[in-house]
Amino acid sequence: MANTKPLLLLTDLASTVDRVPSNFIRPLSDRPNLQQLQSSTASIPIVDLQDPNHSHIVQNIAHACRNYGFFQIVNHGIPEEVVSKMVNVSKEFFRLPESERMKNYSDDPSKATRLSTSFNVKTEKVSNWRDYLRLHCHPLQDYIHEWPTNPPSFRDDVAEYSRRMRGLGLKVMEAISESLGLEKEYIGKALGEPAQHMSINYYPRCPEPELTYGLPSHSDPTAITILLQNEVPGLQVLHNGHWLTVNPVPNTFIVNIGDQIQVISNDRYKSVLHRALVNSEKERMSIPTFYFPSPDAVIKPAPQLVDNDHPAQYTNYEFSEFYNKFWKRGLSKETCLDMFKLQN
Ligand code: OGA
Ligand code: NI
Repeated sequence: MANTKPLLLLTDLASTVDRVPSNFIRPLSDRPNLQQLQSSTASIPIVDLQDPNHSHIVQNIAHACRNYGFFQIVNHGIPEEVVSKMVNVSKEFFRLPESERMKNYSDDPSKATRLSTSFNVKTEKVSNWRDYLRLHCHPLQDYIHEWPTNPPSFRDDVAEYSRRMRGLGLKVMEAISESLGLEKEYIGKALGEPAQHMSINYYPRCPEPELTYGLPSHSDPTAITILLQNEVPGLQVLHNGHWLTVNPVPNTFIVNIGDQIQVISNDRYKSVLHRALVNSEKERMSIPTFYFPSPDAVIKPAPQLVDNDHPAQYTNYEFSEFYNKFWKRGLSKETCLDMFKLQN
């Protein structure tokens, strides 16, 4: 019998097929609209983090969070060189021979360092056009010894990026706290010692991008996510019933509110659905940094945001419970938040 190697990753397979294999094909009722990807001009709000008027920053964030759940940040203080090293080393990683990349492979979502494909191959029915390397980044010394050592500069470049992103994430969460009328430290404290993960998403060129997603519609289980994308568009955000394309802008990050801030804000801010489309011309890469509560933090609506007019919308829960449910359920249109919602 021929020795057939099981296909675990997409990257190499993608370059050999001229049709999308059947396990990637979405049902007719759930396919992307590629015209939208090209024609969209509207975009999500921009926040300048070096605006000398701090209350202006806070107001802009409040407006963006209430109306979009997403915003872009400029003048964020992360040096261009740090970002370009992060992007380059990620590209090099996905160009390594598959046998080398496979050293990091695992389909177990509880592993802190792992290369995988799609979303959760153990639970999902339709696969997504994506490979990804997932890393835990804080505290760095607990995880860095598990990270890939090839490319040789991988650990240095990614560690530098994630250290810088820690400061930025905490700063953005402070401004979000203020934008809710809470003390600046509120969200940081509510999360315990916030966890920080990173995903390096690699979306190969796809021969039939109209049949599949890089990532289907989902909300993030995070407090916030800060995303870096390369120059290839693909991210879409649901806004007033339409999918808005977030066109890449150099030196800009995209911030979105995740499920945990939806709960803490008692629904004043929503964790908005978004998705990633693929295309037949160019590979796409995105690098989200995910800020989570610590596993034992108890998440609940901020008492200051609960009153007779705004009864508590969620029951208290330990974050680890939420996180386990997220990976078991798979990405779907309903968020895991439904499971913690109170019936008022
Ligand atoms: C995610 C995500 C979007 C993108 O990783 O949660 O939404 O553009 N990524 O890759
Ligand atoms: Ni997401």
